[in-house]
Amino acid sequence: MLSKSLIAIMCFMFVLGTSTKAQDFEYIGAAKCKPCHNAAPKGKQYDKWASGPHANAMKSLSNEKSMAYAKANGIADPTKEKSCLKCHSTFHAINPDLNMSLKEDEGVSCESCHGPGSKYKSPAIMKDLAKSKANGLIVPDKALCVTCHNPENPFHKPFDFAAYSAKIAHPNPSK
Ligand code: HEC
Ligand code: HEC
Ligand code: HEC
Ligand code: HEC
Repeated sequence: MLSKSLIAIMCFMFVLGTSTKAQDFEYIGAAKCKPCHNAAPKGKQYDKWASGPHANAMKSLSNEKSMAYAKANGIADPTKEKSCLKCHSTFHAINPDLNMSLKEDEGVSCESCHGPGSKYKSPAIMKDLAKSKANGLIVPDKALCVTCHNPENPFHKPFDFAAYSAKIAHPNPSK
C-alpha cells in the first residue's frame, strides 16, 4: 500500500517537474542578440554593452583591488568564488539547467537585465512588446539594478538610478 502511494507521488512529481521545465525560459547569450541589436541606426546595443562595465565585470575579479580584498579575507581565487560570481557573472548566477548557450566570459550579460531570451528572441514576438514580456522579456527598473548594486558588494558605491542608467544607456534612436 505504502509503496503504491509512494509511486503515485513520485509519478506526480515527475510530471510536475517536466511540465515546469518545458515552460521555463532559457538563457541564449549575448551573441544571439547581436545580429538584431547591433545596427548603427538602431543604437548598437551589443557594442555599447561589450565596451561597458557589465560585459567586463569578470575581468574585475582578477584586478588588484580584488586580489587585495581576497588576500585580506581568506578567499583563494575571486574568479572562482561563488559570493563574487553571483553578481559579476550571469553564467554563474543562473540555474545551469536553464543555460542553452550563454558563455562564461560574458560577465553581466543582456539576460541578467532583460530576462532569458529563448522564447522572446523570435522576430514575430520581439516586435510586439506585450508578447515579448509574456515570453520572458524584462524591461529593467531600479528594483532589478539593486539586486546587485547593494552594500553586499565590498566595493559598493551609492546607487543613483538616473545617473547610473545614463552611463549604460543603449537606446534605439529610430524609435
Ligand atoms: C531576430 C531578431 C532579434 C533577436 C535575435 C533579438 N531581438 Fe530584441 N528586438 C528585436 C526587434 C525587431 C525589436 C523591436 C524593435 C526594436 O527595438 O528594434 C526588439 C526589441 C527588443 C527590446 C526592446 C523592448 C522595448 O522596451 O520596447 C529589448 C530590451 C530587446 N529586444 C532585447 C533583446 C535581447 C536581450 C536579445 C537576446 C537575448 C534579443 N533582444 C534578441 C529583434 C530581435
Ligand atoms: C547581475 C548584477 C547586476 C545588475 C542586475 C546590474 N548591475 Fe550594474 N554592475 C554590476 C557589476 C558587477 C558592476 C561592476 C563592473 C566592473 O567594473 O567590474 C556594475 C557596474 C555598473 C556601472 C558602472 C559603475 C562605475 O563605477 O562606473 C553602472 C553605471 C551600472 N552598473 C549601472 C546599472 C544599472 C542602471 C542597472 C539596472 C538597469 C544595473 N547596473 C544592473 C552588476 C549588475
Ligand atoms: C551584491 C552583488 C555583488 C557582490 C556579491 C560582489 N560584487 Fe563586486 N561589484 C558589484 C557592483 C554592482 C559593482 C559596481 C559598483 C559601483 O561602481 O557602483 C562592483 C564593483 C566591484 C569592483 C570595482 C571594479 C573597479 O575596479 O572599479 C571590484 C574590484 C569588485 N566588485 C570585486 C568583487 C569581489 C572580489 C567580490 C567577492 C568578494 C565582489 N565584487 C562581490 C556587485 C557585487
Ligand atoms: C545592466 C542592465 C542591462 C544590460 C546588461 C543590458 N541592458 Fe538593455 N536596457 C537596460 C535598460 C535599463 C534599458 C531601458 C529600459 C527602459 O526603456 O526603461 C534597456 C533598453 C534596451 C533596449 C531598448 C532600447 C530602446 O530605446 O527601445 C534594447 C533593444 C536593449 N536594451 C537590448 C540589450 C541588449 C541586446 C543587451 C546585451 C548586448 C542589453 N540590452 C544589455 C538595461 C540593460
